[in-house]
Amino acid sequence: MAENRTYEKLMNCLACIRKKTDFVPKVALVLGSGLGNYGDHIQLETAVSYHDIEGFPVSTVAGHKGQFLFGYVGAVPVVCMQGRVHYYEGYDISDVVLPIRLMKLMGAEILFLTNAAGGLQDGMTAGDFMLIRDHISCFAPNPLIGSNMDELGERFPDMTEIYDHELARLIRKNASSRGILIKEGVYAQLTGPSFESPAEITMLKRLGVDAVGMSTVVEAIAAKHMGMRICGISCICNLAAGISKHPLSHEEVQAAGKAAAPLFEALVSACVEDFASC
Ligand code: HPA
Repeated sequence: MAENRTYEKLMNCLACIRKKTDFVPKVALVLGSGLGNYGDHIQLETAVSYHDIEGFPVSTVAGHKGQFLFGYVGAVPVVCMQGRVHYYEGYDISDVVLPIRLMKLMGAEILFLTNAAGGLQDGMTAGDFMLIRDHISCFAPNPLIGSNMDELGERFPDMTEIYDHELARLIRKNASSRGILIKEGVYAQLTGPSFESPAEITMLKRLGVDAVGMSTVVEAIAAKHMGMRICGISCICNLAAGISKHPLSHEEVQAAGKAAAPLFEALVSACVEDFASC
C-alpha cells in the first residue's frame, strides 16, 4: 500500500479510537500465545474491540482475542493488545505494525513485547523465560520499506540499542526478587506459519539465535522508528525443531504458554509497575 495511504489509515484508526476513549497510556503491552488472559491483571477502564476500529487488521489465530484493553497496572496507565496480528495471516507488513504505531500515537512511550517462542539456547527448557537482548530481522520483511513517513520517524533509524537497558535492568531485578531465573538472548522472527526445519534451526543457532518465533521483531522495528523505549520477554514454549524430541504443534505451544502464564503475568505486572519511574 502506498505510504500516504498507510498514514491515512493510521490516522483514521486513531480518530476511531479517540471517539471511544481519550485514555492516554504510558506502557503498551503485547501478549503472546497463551498469555491472552493478562487482562485479568488490569484495572480495566475500557476495552475497544479491533472490529470496531475501521481498517484495523483483525487476528484470525486461535487463542488470540482481538481487543485493546485500557486501564491501570498499579498506578501505571496501560494499553494492552489482547491478540496481535501476524504476517503469516496474510496481512501487508504495514498492517502488522499498525497497532504498534497506533499505541504510540495514543501516547504510549514504552512498548513491552511478549511472545511464545521455540528455544535454541543450550540448557533451555519449555517454561523458561528469556529477556530479549537483541534480535535478527532479516528473515522477515522490514516494516519500514517504502517511502518514509517523516511524521513517524527518520528514514534510517539506528538499531544499535533496540531493547532499552534500563527496562531490561528492571525486568532482571523483578525476576530475581521473585526467584525466577530469566535467561537472556537473541530472538529471531521468521515468517511462519510453518515451524522451522531442523536444518533451519541449525542455521539459526550458528547465527547466534537463542529463541525463534513468528512475531515481535517487526513490531520492535516500527516502535524504535517512532522513538519508543522497548523491552521484550519470550516465553519458551517448546524446544525448537530437531532439538525437541517430538514434532511441534500449536497446541503444545498454547499449553506451555498457559502453564507458564501465572508466573509470566506476575512478572510482567511487577515490571510494568516499576516502569512508573522510567
Ligand atoms: N518456532 C517458531 N515459532 C514458535 C515456536 C517455534 O518453535 N514456538 C512458539 N512459537
